[in-house]
Amino acid sequence: MTPDDKKRIAAEAALDYVQPGTVLGVGTGSTVNHFIDILAQKMKGAVEAAVSSSEASTERLKQHGIPVMDLNSVDELSIYVDGADEATRHLQLIKGGGGALTREKIIAEASRSFVCIADDSKLVDRLGAFPLPVEVIPMARSLVARRMVALGGQPVWREDYFTDNGCEILDVHGLDILDPSALETEINQIPGVVTVGLFAHRGADVLLLGGEKGVQTLKP
Ligand code: A5P
Repeated sequence: MTPDDKKRIAAEAALDYVQPGTVLGVGTGSTVNHFIDILAQKMKGAVEAAVSSSEASTERLKQHGIPVMDLNSVDELSIYVDGADEATRHLQLIKGGGGALTREKIIAEASRSFVCIADDSKLVDRLGAFPLPVEVIPMARSLVARRMVALGGQPVWREDYFTDNGCEILDVHGLDILDPSALETEINQIPGVVTVGLFAHRGADVLLLGGEKGVQTLKP
């Protein structure tokens, strides 16, 4: 089974969590692309609409004829389906490899349940081998980079890249993240940080991991 097959079976398993007649949140990335395609094939008419975390996912949803709504027009989302770059058994995550971390965090917060879908290579004992994305206001990039060095990381500017919000990203290498919630709070407090890609305070509620033996379901 290829890594892409594992992503696809995890995405398909997320259909069980989709509540017909509701608005759902949809994330970003290659695993979510599978989810959007399968949703369109199998449940298109059942879903009222989606709120999307990126221009790329919005485009894909619309191509499939799934209506996309602005989050401001929706009280609460039934579920949020999104991938991850790393996940622990406590369902704390690193996200933002695709650069959509801010909208992803907003939509996760607005959702009753967060269903995370991934291939089993994303499961880790400790977060931090994947460089931690931090979205920053452009004028604060160097300031935030120095703070990341003080925290023990090696920040790398994602050069010539701008998020959908017009901001920039530092990918912070070398962090050994012992306490994800504390680090999320600490980085969030640095002026100029828009979002840190640690999803610890609001992690996933369900983690669906695609692997050789099928899909494993993890709950906290
Ligand atoms: C997007 O910004 C990320 O948070 C993605 O959810 C994450 O990078 C997972 O992507 P893949 O599904 O492509 O591995």
